[in-house]
Amino acid sequence: MVTVFLKNDNIKVHVSAGKSLREIARKSGASMEFGCRVGDCSTCVAKVTTGNELLNKINDKELLALNAMGVKDENLRLMCQCSVEATEGEIEISYFF
Ligand code: FES
Repeated sequence: MVTVFLKNDNIKVHVSAGKSLREIARKSGASMEFGCRVGDCSTCVAKVTTGNELLNKINDKELLALNAMGVKDENLRLMCQCSVEATEGEIEISYFF
């Protein structure tokens, strides 16, 4: 299992590989905001402070949206485009909205 810590809400959940961050946030009751849910609006941008390597690689749509925002930090990700790929480890996320 992978431990996901949603820092702003002090929520810690244990998830299996394949879970999307959007689903994790919704089911845990986290206050993380989502808009379009398809990688267009950037509302769900968040900083993966630990364990970015445990998530899926950034996809083209996410890269396009982050580049449009001028983001240079590879640990800033769109939560609607992220899912857990590893089977063990810890992920910590801080969000802005
Ligand atoms: S909710 Fe719009 S980009 Fe994630």
